[in-house]
Amino acid sequence: MSAKIIDGNQLSKQVRTEVAKRAAALNVQGRQPGLAVILVGDSQASQVYVRNKIKACEENGIHSVFEKYDVSMTEAELLARVHALNHDSKIHGILVQLPLPAHIDSHKVIEAIAAEKDVDGFHISNAGLLMTGQPLFRPCTPYGVMKMLDSIDYPVRGAHAVVVGASNIVGKPQAMLLLQAGATVTICNSKTRDLGHHTRDADILVVATGKRNIVTGDMIKPGAVVIDVGMNRDDAGKLCGDVDYAGACDVASWVTPVPGGVGPMTITMLLVNTLEAAERN
Ligand code: GUN
Repeated sequence: MSAKIIDGNQLSKQVRTEVAKRAAALNVQGRQPGLAVILVGDSQASQVYVRNKIKACEENGIHSVFEKYDVSMTEAELLARVHALNHDSKIHGILVQLPLPAHIDSHKVIEAIAAEKDVDGFHISNAGLLMTGQPLFRPCTPYGVMKMLDSIDYPVRGAHAVVVGASNIVGKPQAMLLLQAGATVTICNSKTRDLGHHTRDADILVVATGKRNIVTGDMIKPGAVVIDVGMNRDDAGKLCGDVDYAGACDVASWVTPVPGGVGPMTITMLLVNTLEAAERN
């Protein structure tokens, strides 16, 4: 089998066109959506992610504020910035890029963000709302994955979905969204024994571990949909995911490429969440 590709760039373009239209309608009423992005420290990867988020805002009619701070910023200083943005009426979404430096408690910072501005969907009350089936904001990456499954009209209800990776950012909320869409969900983690035993039974396989080639072609059920959330570099320095792409293409019915798959969808769903925060306001 030669898998079809779910093109995250193309799907993003469609969704962003709709976002831009709705953002323009709010702008006419003097209610332009606004996103504040905070970056602490100088991680190269985080800087690239944040730059792409800001650029996407600019291109789609969303006002953005970028605050970059030295790694020496204290937790109290960061909390003070978050509190100020909570009260800024031009800002509807607040994103603090993770990971934060080790001396800052990221849980404390996330809980300081007003839940109605938590466009990442990481606040404990938003995690609880998601868990109980009343999400205010769906975390952007899992939300983007659901949008990709939607775009191929995949019948999620009744399917067996296997999520590899159990992070708060991707794995856990992904499992919740799939469960709520009617899938039977298995969550694997870094300690799972015989990972292939589980992945080979997946109709939908979502891989989010940050480990290159953790899933190879022989671990994929023929005809499965394979969603690769990983973002790694191969030996030649080229971007690659967590899944052996060539191996997956031979076995799966649909695959997402890296780059050009889930990555652009994560940013797109951040725009959607920011827009919805502004529309609710
Ligand atoms: N670091 C990696 N992914 C994300 C994300 O989706 N949001 C934030 N805030 N930080 C991240």
